Amino acid sequence: MGGSIVLFGPPGAGKGTQAGRIVDLTGKPQVSTGDMLRAAVKADTKMGAEAKVYMDAGLLVPDSVIIGLIEERLTQSDAINGVLFDGFPRTIPQAESLAKIAVVESVISIEVPDDAIVERIVGRRMDPETGDIYHITFNPAPSEIESRLIQRKDDTEETVRARLEAYHSQTAPLAAWYSERGLLLSIDGNQPIDSVGDAVEGAVRATMSN
Ligand code: AP5
Repeated sequence: MGGSIVLFGPPGAGKGTQAGRIVDLTGKPQVSTGDMLRAAVKADTKMGAEAKVYMDAGLLVPDSVIIGLIEERLTQSDAINGVLFDGFPRTIPQAESLAKIAVVESVISIEVPDDAIVERIVGRRMDPETGDIYHITFNPAPSEIESRLIQRKDDTEETVRARLEAYHSQTAPLAAWYSERGLLLSIDGNQPIDSVGDAVEGAVRATMSN
């Protein structure tokens, strides 16, 4: 299997927004554990019902569930040359499990301060037909699709505070973990979407030329 890239950062950092650019550049498929969990919730599977309780509360879903999902996803043929992980790993045990089954070639960390996160999350809108991500102020949707946009159930101010707490206590320590392994590339995510995209693209190109 080829090397994989990890897109890392707090909730609302812009991981999903920037993922398409990396997919276009590298040809690696996006593997978002958040999207996989939401699909399981929608399909009303047993795992989806279990995960929903954690997601609605802004808590991390147990590592065993997430690791099982990833192990299964990586057996699919499009993962052979590596993938773009979005929102995974989120704990040190998840990163340790990943290291046993895949090669991570770089971790792109999109850094955004907490005070910018709440406005981003509460104003996010999703297009259920295409999966495209918009923001009521920072990236408004075209008026012809406005009526079909949805808001994620966990995109409330109260839940985002719990998600940020989970991020700081369980996920943020991974930055040092990957930095010690020489894999962390940090990007300033507190700038306009296109500028973040250019910085992300620069980091990916630097990884590809190594
Ligand atoms: P998940 O779906 O992964 O959510 P998240 O990490 O909280 O990340 P988001 O999708 O909220 O943010 P994003 O960084 O993709 O930002 P986006 O590009 O949309 O996880 C949801 C839940 O599932 C978790 O809480 C947990 O319960 C569970 N889960 C998932 N993976 C798990 C795992 N590995 N382990 C355990 N549990 C797991 O941008 C946000 C908004 O900001 C958008 O409106 C966008 O338009 C706007 N925006 C983006 N960039 C900018 C910019 N530069 N300037 C201004 N606005 C911007």
